[in-house]
Amino acid sequence: MERSDRNGELRLKDVGRKVTLVGWVSNRRNLGSLLFIDLRDASGIVQLSSEHPDELPDVRNENVVQVKGTVRKKDVPNKNLPTGEIEVVIDELIVINKAENPPFIIADKTDALEETRLQYRYLDLRRPIMANRLRTRAKIVRLFHECLDAEGFCEIETPILNLATPEGARDYLVPSRLHHGRFYALPQSPQLFKQLLMIGGMERYYQIARCFRDEDLRADRQPEFTQVDIETSFLDQDQILTMMEKLLARIFKETVNYDVPLPLRRMKYWDAMDKYGSDKPDTRYDLFLHDIKGVMAKSEFAGFQGQEFIKGLVIPDKGKETSRKKLDELQLEARKFNLKGVMSLKMENGALAGSFTKFLSEEQQKELIASLDLKEDDLLLFASSNSRRDIDFGLGALRIRFAKEMGLVKPGTYDLLWVVDFPMFDPIEGQPGLYSAEHHPFTRPRDEDLPLLDTKPEEVLAYAYDIIINGYEAGGGTLRIYDHDTQWKIFKIMGLSDEDVQRKFGWFIDAFKYGCPPHGGIAFGLDRLCMILTGTDNIRDVEAFPKNLQAVDPMSKAPGEVTTEQLDCVGIEIKKE
Ligand code: AMO
Repeated sequence: MERSDRNGELRLKDVGRKVTLVGWVSNRRNLGSLLFIDLRDASGIVQLSSEHPDELPDVRNENVVQVKGTVRKKDVPNKNLPTGEIEVVIDELIVINKAENPPFIIADKTDALEETRLQYRYLDLRRPIMANRLRTRAKIVRLFHECLDAEGFCEIETPILNLATPEGARDYLVPSRLHHGRFYALPQSPQLFKQLLMIGGMERYYQIARCFRDEDLRADRQPEFTQVDIETSFLDQDQILTMMEKLLARIFKETVNYDVPLPLRRMKYWDAMDKYGSDKPDTRYDLFLHDIKGVMAKSEFAGFQGQEFIKGLVIPDKGKETSRKKLDELQLEARKFNLKGVMSLKMENGALAGSFTKFLSEEQQKELIASLDLKEDDLLLFASSNSRRDIDFGLGALRIRFAKEMGLVKPGTYDLLWVVDFPMFDPIEGQPGLYSAEHHPFTRPRDEDLPLLDTKPEEVLAYAYDIIINGYEAGGGTLRIYDHDTQWKIFKIMGLSDEDVQRKFGWFIDAFKYGCPPHGGIAFGLDRLCMILTGTDNIRDVEAFPKNLQAVDPMSKAPGEVTTEQLDCVGIEIKKE
C-alpha cells in the first residue's frame, strides 16, 4: 500500500513535502468551510486540514483512510502533540474501510468500564496510552535479552505440558487423550526444569516464560503471567544479586531515565516485617511499626496478658479525623491478615486520649508518649498477637492504607531494594511441629543455620531474596539445595514420607545423584515490572489480552463449554451440580 511516512514522525523539516499517509480517523471537526481530522497510526497522530470539506468523502471516527497531501507549518502550534507544529493539507482522501460507531471514545482519557475495554480490547489498544505500555513492555523484554546475552546466558524453552508438582498455587490441568484419567499440569514456573538444566551443565539459562497459577486474582495477579526466569551455576547469592541489580539499573535508565543507586539496599526479612509490617516494604514514606510490649504488657488490660507481641503504628495528624466508623473499617482490614482487636489512642492537648487510657497509669502513658515521640493529633493504632507474622502483616496493611489515603507516595518515584534472609519454613497453623516451605522445598538454608534444622526449624533462614520495587514483589529467587541429604531433611521437616517424596519429586531429585553443581536463580515478574515502569497499578494494563478478576476473558468469554465428543475423547464426564 502506498505510504510515504508514519504520521507521528512528521516534523517542521517536512514542511513543503508531498506525503501519502494511512491510518484511523481519531477525531474530526467540521467548521463548515474548514475541516480538521486527527489521523492516527501506530506512530502517533497528525492533524489533517482541508478548506474544501464538501469535495471530500464523508469520514467518521475510526474509518481507515489513505490521504495524499502537503505538509504545512501551523499558524498556532499544538504543544500537546509531537507533530503539533505542522499539519497536512489534504489533496485527496480515500476511505479504505468504514467503521461502526465504537462503544467508547478512543482516546487516552476514557470513562469506559474496564469490562467494556476488555470486551473490545482491539479498540482499547488503539488508545495511544495502551499501545505505548505494550511498546515499553517489548522494550523491557529486548533489554533483558540484550543484557542476559551479554552475560553469557542461553535462552532455553521448557515444557508447558508437565507432571503436576505441588508449588503453592493450584495447577491448571490438561486432560490427556491418550491416557484417560491422567493429566498434564501447566507450569506454575519452570523451576524444576531450570534446575535440571544446571545439572545438565548449561550453567547460565534464561527464558521469557509463561506461567499459570489458578489462584485468587488481584490488581497485580493474573492467572497466566510472564516471568523472566533465570538460573546460574557456581555463583553465590551476592554475585547473583549484583548481576541482577546491574541489569535492572539498565532497564530503569533506558525506560524511565532513572538512575538506580547501586548497590541496592539489602534488608533482612525480619527487619522489614518489624519496621514496615511487610516482606515487600514500600520505604518511600515514613510510617513505622513499633514494638510497644515493654509499656503495654504492664497495663491492666487483660487481653494483653500472655501475648507474645504487642505493636503499634503511629499515623501523624490523624487523631481527630479518624472516626469510630473508620476504626471499624480498619479492624476489618486487619482481620484479613488474622489480626483481631486493633485499638486506638490519640494525642489530644498534650496527653493520650481514648478509652484505653483507663488501663494505663499516668506513668505508663508518659512512657508511651516519650518512647514513640507522639505529637499533637497523632493516632496510635495497636494490637497484640502470638503470631509475629499476623501482627506485622495486619498493621502493615493499615500502614499501606493510610499512605494511600494520605497521598504519601509521589507518582514517578522509585524505591528498589532486596529483601533477604527469608525464613526457610512457615509453621502450619493448627499443626504444631509441621512446616511448609516459605519459598519452595529446594531452597537452600544458610550454611550457619544448618544445625537448627534438627532443633528449631522455624528459626532457619534461607538463601532467599526478593527484589522489591515501590512495595511490589517484582521478582524472587533462591540458592538451591545441591546435596541429597539436606534435601531429604527438608522433605522430612515438611512431613513428607519417603513414598510422598518419590511420587511427587522422585524424577527430579534422582538427578541430584549425578553431580549437581551449586546453583541458584531468580524470576522477575515481567508484568509487575512493566506496571511499575509504565506507572499503572493495574496488571491488566500491561497485558494485551488479560483475564478479568473472575479469570474470564470478556472478549472470547473463555473459559467455555466443550462438546460431549471432546469430553469423550479425553475420557471426562461433567458432574451435574
Ligand atoms: P515466585 O513464585 O516468587 O518465584 O514468582 C516470581 C515472580 O513472579 C511474579 N508473579 C506473578 N505475577 C503476576 N501474576 C501472578 N499470579 C504472579 N505470581 C508470581 C512476581 C514474583 O516475584 N520459581 C520461583 C523463582 C525462583 O526461585 O527462581 C518462582 O516462581 O513478581
